[in-house]
Amino acid sequence: MAVLLRNDSGRKLRTRTLAGSCRRLLRLCGQERSELSVVFTNDPAIRALNRQYRRRDKATNVLSFPQQEGEPGNGLMLGDIVISVDTAAREAREQGQSFHTRLQKLLIHGLVHLLGMDHERSAAEAGLMRRREEKLYQQLMKEGRLMPHLAINVDHIATLRQARGINEPDPVLAAGICELAGARGIVAHLREDRRHMQDRDIRLLRQTVKTKLNMEMGAAPEIIAIALDIHPDMVTLVPEKRQELTTEGGLDVAGQHKKISRVIKDMHQENIPVSLFIDPDQNQVQAALEAGADFVEIHTGRYCDAENAAERDREFDLAAEAALFAYNQGLRVNAGHGLNYQTTARIAALDSIEELSIGHAVMARAIIVGLKEAVREMAAIIRQAAI
Ligand code: PXP
Repeated sequence: MAVLLRNDSGRKLRTRTLAGSCRRLLRLCGQERSELSVVFTNDPAIRALNRQYRRRDKATNVLSFPQQEGEPGNGLMLGDIVISVDTAAREAREQGQSFHTRLQKLLIHGLVHLLGMDHERSAAEAGLMRRREEKLYQQLMKEGRLMPHLAINVDHIATLRQARGINEPDPVLAAGICELAGARGIVAHLREDRRHMQDRDIRLLRQTVKTKLNMEMGAAPEIIAIALDIHPDMVTLVPEKRQELTTEGGLDVAGQHKKISRVIKDMHQENIPVSLFIDPDQNQVQAALEAGADFVEIHTGRYCDAENAAERDREFDLAAEAALFAYNQGLRVNAGHGLNYQTTARIAALDSIEELSIGHAVMARAIIVGLKEAVREMAAIIRQAAI
């Protein structure tokens, strides 16, 4: 199953996510072995194609060009889908959909055409085609409903070790225990001041983590070079201040667009996905999108630190809205900071969230009940909330 996706539109698109949607759609249509080409273009270009191939001298939203007329699904190239992002954006506004949703619906329309259906042949076929598209969209969304999983931040194990300057407790050993207890990812923050994680830790974690290593980091050249060298499964960019006890606020992505998009580009060249740790603020989500991020991690600190129920509800709503907004724009969404055994369930129940990054609360409980038990209890909270 290969999806060749090209963006000639001159507009920034969530191409990785759209390619992911194409692959999921091919799977849903039983076309796992097929190849598909998708080109995003603009109104003048699609108008020229419409004129040349369909003798219609006007722009349209999507055109499909089957490769093998009448023989879809034979394991070869299915054909090409061409989508005008200008028309898609206009239709999204008119229909009150997000731009990304509109692009997904046009992809589905183009694919159903490639599979042999044509709404122009008869009213009955038009009805069938509409229902097929609607079902595919629902299936795509259902597949897209995420069960968040637990990623354990092991920085605090290293903090305890550094307090004595000896070699225990070992965050690498702890990471293995977390994985055995049900963590689906390990997070480690290599700070410039090396207050907890050391270079040795991150390099060993790269070799030993079997689930997914998420390297948290500031955008300092020295740390960027280490990430590019060790190749974590993803990186999460955070603001880093020497005086802070822990990461305090989210990144100001809009204010550092150039710097952040350059780091993202460098990571993408090495195929390392990038998450940006941001406050629950739609402007920051938009800026993350424009910088080319793959994920955002929504900062849950203010929700967790709220001093009363009303404040907590308000902060929860902000986190939920930002997460949904990011997801609807095609970003993948993580969340974390300050989550504990009381505050995690509500966040884990959000459909849009993929991973919860939790450190301090689990380590604090581990001292009392043991690391394995503390991870298991947190994983169970997330599992139950997500059902
Ligand atoms: N996410 C990010 C970006 C962080 O900086 C941290 C703290 O290292 C966490 C999640 C985990 O926070 P906590 O230790 O409060 O669970």
